[in-house]
Amino acid sequence: MTEEKLKALLDSMTLEEKAGQLVQCNAGQFIANTLEITGPDGETLPAEDLCRVMGSVLTFEDAKQAKALQDMHLAADPNKIPLLLMLDVIHGLRTTYPIPLAMGCGFDDGLVAECADMARKESAACGVHVTFNPMVDTARDARWGRILETNSEEPLLNSRMGAALVRATQGNDLSDPGNVACCVKHYAAYGAGEAGRDYNTVDVSERMLRETYLPAYKACLDAGARLIMPAFNALNGVPCVANKRLMNDILRKEWGFEGVVISDYNAVGELVSHGAAADLKDASRLAMEAGCDIDMVMNAYYLHLPELVREGTVSEEMVDAAVMRVLRLKNELGLFENPYHGADEEAEKKIYLCPEHREIARRAAEETAVLLKNEGILPFRKDVKRIALIGPFAEETRLNGFWSRPGAEKYTVTLPEGIRALLPEAELRTEKGCGAEIGDTDDSGIAAAVRAAAEAEVVILALGEPENDSGEGRSRAELTLPGRQTELAKAVIAANPNTAVLLFNGRPLVLTELAETAPALLEMWYPGTEAGNAAARLLWGDANPCGKLSAGLARSVGQYPMPYNRMSTGRPKPEPDNQPFPFTSCYLDMPNLPLYSFGYGLSYTTFAYEKLTLSRKTLGRGETLEVTVRVRNTGDRAGKETVQLYTRDPVGSVVRPVQELKDYQKILLAPGEAKDVVFRLREEQLRFYDMDGKQVCESGEIRVSAGWADHLLLTESFTLQV
Ligand code: NOJ
Repeated sequence: MTEEKLKALLDSMTLEEKAGQLVQCNAGQFIANTLEITGPDGETLPAEDLCRVMGSVLTFEDAKQAKALQDMHLAADPNKIPLLLMLDVIHGLRTTYPIPLAMGCGFDDGLVAECADMARKESAACGVHVTFNPMVDTARDARWGRILETNSEEPLLNSRMGAALVRATQGNDLSDPGNVACCVKHYAAYGAGEAGRDYNTVDVSERMLRETYLPAYKACLDAGARLIMPAFNALNGVPCVANKRLMNDILRKEWGFEGVVISDYNAVGELVSHGAAADLKDASRLAMEAGCDIDMVMNAYYLHLPELVREGTVSEEMVDAAVMRVLRLKNELGLFENPYHGADEEAEKKIYLCPEHREIARRAAEETAVLLKNEGILPFRKDVKRIALIGPFAEETRLNGFWSRPGAEKYTVTLPEGIRALLPEAELRTEKGCGAEIGDTDDSGIAAAVRAAAEAEVVILALGEPENDSGEGRSRAELTLPGRQTELAKAVIAANPNTAVLLFNGRPLVLTELAETAPALLEMWYPGTEAGNAAARLLWGDANPCGKLSAGLARSVGQYPMPYNRMSTGRPKPEPDNQPFPFTSCYLDMPNLPLYSFGYGLSYTTFAYEKLTLSRKTLGRGETLEVTVRVRNTGDRAGKETVQLYTRDPVGSVVRPVQELKDYQKILLAPGEAKDVVFRLREEQLRFYDMDGKQVCESGEIRVSAGWADHLLLTESFTLQV
């Protein structure tokens, strides 16, 4: 449809119909008409009304339902404006790939794109028009259960991976029924909630906001994301959905965003509980004035926008502008011509969980697992006869993580299935040992687990955090393994030191006690559909671990917040980190550094960082220099290494971080092989926000290093002359 036709359509709509385009309910409510919309005179709206007015629907089942919803709506809507169908496809639809935090550990934008492409195909066939993805909230507090939804504690990683996901999901032409629009979320700084509690208030400085939190949303919009979702939290005193500075000034004016803003679930209504609005009417006004186009779920907009316009509180132009943005999106998706978009029951059957998709999911699970410790016991030998598989996750099917689709566990390859597929001859005994629930004190199964361990040649201990303990609304104050798992681990390892621990969890846990005794630790996160196959291949060396931590693992929850790119202080703690130094910035009872830092991860081979060279000694405004890092595989098997480039600006008009990731490249090296990895470092990557909130670059020394956080192996300097 042309812009003129869309405009004519808008002009023909009543105020109520316009408000209808700006509200959303979920499919269950839509079909059953159970949404409690109370009309202006206290009456409940009849079913036909709901079908007629609603502009979009979220959370539906499949292609069949997608078509039914569209049919119901189009039959009732006199304007014949198709519904927008939205779904949270976060790490796969039917074929589940690893959680985003794990994908961050892959340090591989290409892998993110490959997984997103597979999710796109499955989503399109399901009838999804918009996915509420990517979530790029930089998160540096593992107490926050939603840390699993982000790629990293690191803004650059979030920016690159978010952008890669957007490009792979949206393609070049949204009217192509195979493509799906992206809604980037949660704008802004949702990951900085005080004390790691979900939905909690956020107070960050302008510099922190601009340097740490905003870049990833901006990168996703630059990659073309058509929608954005304001976060639940209040940011510096004003809830995001009503935050004019965030939405009007930064998003619309400064960044020029012309797409659709959709509130989070009931966030407009929650302006009342925030104490930011007196009632739903006031909430509608505030959100509308801040530029929020769609009110997800709540009926604030539907009930109050017409009234607000009629009484002159909200201008009709403002409502029209919001409706036009929604209509344009529907038009761009080609919905006026093809309201089903890609919904196709036959395609669903063909591609859901097809071998190619399973293969991608398996590879992703292998490439994102992080080997934290290995005292030479992994990989196991394939001629093993007796294996004990112990722990609450030994036979678990729920290894997919939050946002996996209901029923996803039915398709999960479990650990026993994966091990049997790889080693059909070996005897495999499983014991649960104990539970993994918070507060579970039952240790009656530990004795049997110890016996099984003692009788086996090798032991796999599958520990972690139940799937429901991370995700939305699932913050924890303690980050150790729940239940009696640490006791189980100690007893099993004492009975058989040939034990490797596999960890399944959605957040960086505190593993300090476990790491002291476990001979090998392999962090699997929630690997998804192919969990068992990936784990078996990693344990027996068919796959070589290459993941690097996308967020550091604390020694104690008391170390949070613990960003790897912390600011330098006036009293830095001198080396070594293992003892306190009076009157320096340190703890009396533990080191400052995390147990495992950002960017850390082992392999079954070893790598030597041989040389770092700079193409020039000075760098001017707008210029680029090349940094070459020579890395050699010094072990006896092929392996992938993520070469990470860090900088430090030792003197600035404002205090700068002690290390900042600027680039990364993942390379494959054969045994003995060396490669020169070339990075192009641009002057603009060294800019920062000064005292006055201006982005500047200051002359002086810049140090360039390769290695991982807190372990920079090679360093050279150059002079910035701007
Ligand atoms: C609430 C969550 O915060 C958001 O991430 C999600 O997209 C919406 N619900 C819709 O399910």
